[in-house]
Amino acid sequence: MKILVVGGAGYIGSHMVKMLIDSGHDAITFDNLSSGYQDAVLGGEFILGDLADIAAIDMALTKYQPDAVMHFASYIQVGESVKHPDKYYLNNFTNTMNLLNSMIRCDVKNFIFSSTAAVFGEPVYIPIDEAHPRIPLNPYGRSKWMVEEVLLDYERAYGLQSICLRYFNAAGADPSGLLGERHYPETHLIPLVLQAISGRKKDITVFGRNYDTPDGTCIRDYIHIVDLCSAHLLALNKLLKDKQSMRFNLGNGAGFSVQEVISVAEQVTKKKVTVIEGPKREGDPARLVADASLAKQYLAWSPKYVDLETIMTHAWQWELKQINT
Ligand code: UFG
Repeated sequence: MKILVVGGAGYIGSHMVKMLIDSGHDAITFDNLSSGYQDAVLGGEFILGDLADIAAIDMALTKYQPDAVMHFASYIQVGESVKHPDKYYLNNFTNTMNLLNSMIRCDVKNFIFSSTAAVFGEPVYIPIDEAHPRIPLNPYGRSKWMVEEVLLDYERAYGLQSICLRYFNAAGADPSGLLGERHYPETHLIPLVLQAISGRKKDITVFGRNYDTPDGTCIRDYIHIVDLCSAHLLALNKLLKDKQSMRFNLGNGAGFSVQEVISVAEQVTKKKVTVIEGPKREGDPARLVADASLAKQYLAWSPKYVDLETIMTHAWQWELKQINT
């Protein structure tokens, strides 16, 4: 199959391109390199292009006529989205509309969309299944939810089929050591803890210890990047075969607290980290854990790297490579 991977130079997109190629598919990356790295694209053609540039999208779709488009290009910082909603609605929503409209024009009708657990807002119940109310708390989550809603209308009107995958906390790195997380600025817990251990940072700040959880720190559902990508591959096959639009939550179904993440990082690296106590970060729900049973049943998805030690080991291997190069 021929797949256009929009945002293929980013953290999740680059792991996806690798998996597509390793599975014998043809992956074409379309990325503006605003936060991705061309050297993370380990194969296939690379198009330096921006979703604000409608002619560039039309050109890519006309030239390659892909079987499907996978869309990973978006801004991802919740806090920033509250301060600068314009940036998020423009990039995550308007630019995605450019892509969808171009797909309709070019008769490309299969779409895999990176959505997020942030579409659910403050959980009403745990674990969060697909039926959970979607009341996003911030522009980031709302920009993704708006695309999900538009996709329903586009299916009815234009026959564009889509699978939306709502990620919980993507983490870890490719076990080969060739790829990993490279955000600038880095805001995610696991890479920050490991940077504090490797010496790239001085310490790690825990954002609040008086949440309603057993140790008082926030609980999140960390899913290995390779498992996340394998769900995309299964979703792609299913979409092309069954032509049925679906939404899936992707997580491990197990929650780990910030304190547990720090302890596992210390165990895996056999080093201590300096911990600073900080205030709560605005908009952080106490607990976010996925019920991913629908993806397991319907896609026959079976995550391989479910324990936090393995996720941490792969992330640490990547961090060591960063300090040694
Ligand atoms: N945290 C700290 N210190 C840090 C960084 C994070 O204590 O320096 C805590 C956070 O408060 C949170 C947990 O670690 O409780 C995880 O934080 P991350 O920033 O790693 O991840 P989030 O859960 O905030 O966000 C992730 C994705 C978002 C997505 C969200 C949906 O990065 O894009 O999950 O649940 F919207």
